[in-house]
Amino acid sequence: MRLLSLLFASAAAAELTFSASAVQAGKKVDISGLEFVPIPPRSRSHFRWSGTNSTGASSGGHKSHRSNENEKRNAISLSSDWCGVSQHATTSDPIKSVYGSFTAPNLSDRTGTYPQYGAAWIGIDGASCSQALLQAGVTTILNSNGQQSASAWWEWVPNSSYSISGFPVKAGEWLTVNVTATSATNGLISISNLNQGYTLSIVLNNGPALCRADADWIVEDFYGTGGKQVPFARFDDIWFEECAATTSKGNTIGLDGAAMIYLGNSASTATCVAQPYDNSNFYCSSQG
Ligand SMILES: *[C@@H]1O[C@H](CO)[C@@H](O)[C@H](O)[C@H]1NC(C)=O
Ligand SMILES: *[C@@H]1O[C@H](CO)[C@@H](O)[C@H](O)[C@H]1NC(C)=O
Ligand SMILES: *[C@@H]1O[C@H](CO)[C@@H](O)[C@H](O)[C@H]1NC(C)=O
Ligand SMILES: *[C@@H]1O[C@H](CO)[C@@H](O)[C@H](O)[C@H]1NC(C)=O
Repeated sequence: MRLLSLLFASAAAAELTFSASAVQAGKKVDISGLEFVPIPPRSRSHFRWSGTNSTGASSGGHKSHRSNENEKRNAISLSSDWCGVSQHATTSDPIKSVYGSFTAPNLSDRTGTYPQYGAAWIGIDGASCSQALLQAGVTTILNSNGQQSASAWWEWVPNSSYSISGFPVKAGEWLTVNVTATSATNGLISISNLNQGYTLSIVLNNGPALCRADADWIVEDFYGTGGKQVPFARFDDIWFEECAATTSKGNTIGLDGAAMIYLGNSASTATCVAQPYDNSNFYCSSQG
């Protein structure tokens, strides 16, 4: 009995906790105006594999800026919900930080039904490692009146996602995200809005164990309530710039050799394709 209650006590102690602080224009900000609104886990953020296409050819009207030789080093994967790049680390030198800058999706009508969505984020795991995923980014919603609203969020899958009410962000603004695993179960997230000079830092403890195997830079058509994918809007090209991951041994990994993920069942019918540019920059392009 005693042992059992001790076990329960330690299980309860090991629950995900987090705290936040913010800085704007170099000054500490009172974050009492920020609210972390939990959104129940809705299986929105695992990589759902739907095939591979390693021909290296790009589809659609946009041509890659890379040489064919470079393109061949980035095999294409197909996914039903992710578009972007996923890179892999070795188990002997796991991922510590993943970072980069990207624009909050600027949406336009694709489906004729509203609301329509587009999410962009950076994270650790969730591709080859499906047990957990630490991620942060922004979701833009396009409403029937043509107005868009964007909101920043973070999530440590399989825990809830937290929408960050009060974080200043609009469609088209530049964000820098840095997701760091200080261990398999502790992390740091920083989300900066470069247009507004605003940086939010979140310290996370006792999260679900990460593998620290995957580094992801993703545009997502996520699964909403009821396990159905939300209507995916068209969007202006989303550039991910200055992307890199650092490892626990201090090595830096770029995008060369990573999987370019297209959202769809085939390259020719994909609704979003990831186009390589160089070792630290690429863009996601809306198709169809
Ligand atoms: C994380 O998930 C666990 C297990 O479902 C739950 O007990 C806990 O309350 C969650 N914590 C947070 C901060 O969401
Ligand atoms: C968003 O896209 C619309 C066209 O669909 C364009 O008029 C507008 O300038 C874009 N906004 C930003 C911030 O890029
Ligand atoms: C990302 O955050 C970690 C932890 O705070 C920090 O050590 C690292 O320098 C950051 N990376 C970049 C590129 O800012
Ligand atoms: C692979 O990509 C090429 C070029 O875009 C295309 O012709 C082919 O149909 C694709 N195959 C699959 C299985 O998507």
